[in-house]
Amino acid sequence: MNESKMKNSKEFYEKTKNNVVNKELRYFISSVEHETGKAIELGCGAGVNTAYLIKNKWNVIANDIEDVEGYIKEELTEEELKRLRFVKGNFEEIELEENDLTFACNSLPFCKEENFQNLWTRIEQNIKINGFFVGNFFGVKDAWYKTPRREEMTFLTREQVFDLFKDFEIIEFCERNNMLPSASGKMKHWHIFWIIAKKLK
Ligand SMILES: C[S@@+](CC[C@H](N)C(=O)[O-])C[C@H]1O[C@@H](n2cnc3c(N)ncnc32)[C@H](O)[C@@H]1O
Repeated sequence: MNESKMKNSKEFYEKTKNNVVNKELRYFISSVEHETGKAIELGCGAGVNTAYLIKNKWNVIANDIEDVEGYIKEELTEEELKRLRFVKGNFEEIELEENDLTFACNSLPFCKEENFQNLWTRIEQNIKINGFFVGNFFGVKDAWYKTPRREEMTFLTREQVFDLFKDFEIIEFCERNNMLPSASGKMKHWHIFWIIAKKLK
């Protein structure tokens, strides 16, 4: 990674390490009937959501392409650290393990479009029957869709999102299409599909 990219990621993690826990994840923990087990978070960033899962008794494999392990560990007690395993690497390439919950917040859209179906097939195969997916995808009305970022990312239509979940019960689905600040503070048009789903077969 070049120096300026490294500086940007460090700034991003410093800014987001005290973020509130993701709303959909809080809803899943508080309101969706489930048992705890093994979770995997893909593209965990500074690890706020991983730490929340661990504090709610999940064993978590936290993955990121960047070296963020230190940020996650800061939030955990010695006892809680026993429930964390950090795997540094590209989620398009790392070996995924069977799990009871796959969580991915603002990370899967950073998979290149040509690799997305393969990534999704592996994610789906590794969620156990009766296990869950909680996460989001960017839509084609997102402002980044019309920028060079499109070459590096995956944007889906509503229909394409539903197609991914043919073998799941959809527990919550929400489409957001609004202007909000990005991590840099600049306003941006976000088009995001959020989904909580249970794998049926
Ligand atoms: C926008 S941040 C979101 C971080 C965190 N999930 C959150 O909600 O705060 C995207 C994260 O995904 C990671 N990421 C992007 N592409 C990745 C890839 N191919 N494999 C693993 N992690 C990736 C980035 O390094 C970054 O930490």
